[in-house]
Amino acid sequence: MEAVAEPTEGMRENILELRDISFSYSMRGGEKLRVFDNLSLSVSYAEFLGIAGPSGCGKSTLLRIMAGLLKPDNGGVLFRGKPLKEPTPRISMMFQSPALFPWYTVLENVMLALIHEKELTRREKEERVRVFLDIVGLMGFEAAYPAELSGGMRQRVALARALVAQPDLLLMDEPFSNLDPLTAISLRREIETLWMNQSLPPSSVVMVSHDIEELVELSDTIIVLTKRPAKIAGIVKIDMERPRSRRSREFYEYVDKVYTLLG
Ligand SMILES: Nc1ncnc2c1ncn2[C@@H]1O[C@H](COP(=O)(O)OP(=O)(O)O)[C@@H](O)[C@H]1O
Ligand SMILES: [Mg+2]
Repeated sequence: MEAVAEPTEGMRENILELRDISFSYSMRGGEKLRVFDNLSLSVSYAEFLGIAGPSGCGKSTLLRIMAGLLKPDNGGVLFRGKPLKEPTPRISMMFQSPALFPWYTVLENVMLALIHEKELTRREKEERVRVFLDIVGLMGFEAAYPAELSGGMRQRVALARALVAQPDLLLMDEPFSNLDPLTAISLRREIETLWMNQSLPPSSVVMVSHDIEELVELSDTIIVLTKRPAKIAGIVKIDMERPRSRRSREFYEYVDKVYTLLG
């Protein structure tokens, strides 16, 4: 049997830790594009972490490192206290534009995320998919194809697909920026509600956005990054009740704080 180590303080509190990571892209001709140089940050259990930073500073790269899709050149990534070596169904990712397979139905697109769940029968998988389609408001659209759906509905399919494997950590890269404002408002509220319901996945969320109001509305903590190689320019803790109204003075004081750090 494997020995179970006493959980350290960090293991109990942080679902994900990046410790002194450095990362460069190798360019054609051999030069390196330095994106991170000894960056450390952590995501706590049950936390909604927002990330802001100038365009091109490395936010999407950071999410890919958090997902295990890219490996840092130096430093460590710990997921639930253990080194993250490769992508895991416990961490899922949602992008700006949903990458759906046009020749698969809504049901089949979501079911693809259960490919690793070998112990479930097809029928059990279908049932699980239906539960999550219901949660994201797509009941009745199981047999539709992506081309038949609006942008907001496609992003809901992507959300169901990101959640159906019941991940502990959801990573979102500008998830609302391609949606019309009204659809964005309702989807933001739904993701917040899901995250607040601790009996449903995910436990923690990391969201990258260039929409500072959106970050202040949803985040417990906002990490503001500098331009490349990205360092932490500052961390803003948002201490406001949810759901948050964008009308209060307090709200705009937080928004100003983030803009000030962005410089
Ligand atoms: N696959 C890649 N190969 C080389 N350079 C890349 C690659 N992906 C991103 N970059 C560069 O790395 C930097 C950080 O990119 P990215 O993480 O996408 O930034 P952000 O999401 O903050 O806009 C940018 O200068 C970008 O041009
Ligand atoms: Mg990006």
